Amino acid sequence: MLTEQQIREVSEMYQGEVYGEAFYCALLHLFHTPLQQHLIGSLLQLETENKARLRQIVYEYGGDLVESDASRDEARDFIRRVEHMSWTQATAYMVVASVEFQDRYREIVETVPDVLKPVVNYMIEHEDLIIAAMKLASEGEDEKAIELVAGQLMLPLPTLTAA
Ligand SMILES: [Fe+2]
Repeated sequence: MLTEQQIREVSEMYQGEVYGEAFYCALLHLFHTPLQQHLIGSLLQLETENKARLRQIVYEYGGDLVESDASRDEARDFIRRVEHMSWTQATAYMVVASVEFQDRYREIVETVPDVLKPVVNYMIEHEDLIIAAMKLASEGEDEKAIELVAGQLMLPLPTLTAA
């Protein structure tokens, strides 16, 4: 059995992915080159897949599966901070934001029972992947960033065929 607090922490990670989905959806409106769209779309896919993984756990422990509008609103607020930035600046800024999420998951992993450690550790690795991809993008290596993210997806976005 998990405590109320632990169920809340699992729900918090789930809502973190709801936030992530809303964030990358909003980001799709800001950066339009084919590589930027491919990378953002792949990160959106990553958040969706991760949310589905966490949904199993939230359900298993009796948490609330409802996706929170408050999480989506928070993500849209965050987008306002990057909307006037260049791609390089925005991706560098997103490294910092992902580190904050990761710090929170590192805090959570300390207190959860053993049964939950694998999923929280997975979340820490998930942020590692996003941090690495955003770093590459901020250094002008969009293609490498896409490759890195796509390599972790169950359902990677296909390469576009020329029209
Ligand atoms: Fe995420």
